Amino acid sequence: MSNIQPDSNFTLLKSVKDLTETEQLLITKAKEAAMNAYAPYSEFYVGAALELRSGEILVGNNQENAAYPSGLCAERVLLFSTGANYPSKQIKTLAVLAYKNDKIVAATPCGACRQVMVEYEQKQENPIKIIMYKGEDDIIVSNDAKGLLPFAFDSKSLLNK
Ligand code: THU
Repeated sequence: MSNIQPDSNFTLLKSVKDLTETEQLLITKAKEAAMNAYAPYSEFYVGAALELRSGEILVGNNQENAAYPSGLCAERVLLFSTGANYPSKQIKTLAVLAYKNDKIVAATPCGACRQVMVEYEQKQENPIKIIMYKGEDDIIVSNDAKGLLPFAFDSKSLLNK
């Protein structure tokens, strides 16, 4: 028998009303942020918003570049700018969504963004709730970032912890 346990880390919500008011505000802010994405090449407009435990709400969006690999996903733009501007604050919840052809489409974070989420989660020693919004009746909530990246490479290997 496998030792791997079934995962109870995720909740699938069928209504945006099942989110808290602040979480719903994060969705609104992420939608606004997506409108300001710089994505002339993919025309895939991603918005992300997070709430700090101290209450501030911060946003990010994808920033593309003619030299494609120089661009960056919305989630990392947001997390790095949060790390730069609020280095000792705790992130409570992060929401992400995307538009293609003016319609909301599934945007689950890429592997590199998950890696960065896990790093910040470990740094702050508290879980970051991740909300992946695919529509008013289709929302995935992960109670933490580490559940999105099993067997992640992390600082334990580098710092001999
Ligand atoms: N992108 C994000 O910003 N976040 C994701 O979760 C998936 C992909 C961006 C990167 C690029 O600008 C565009 O979407 C197409 O991949």
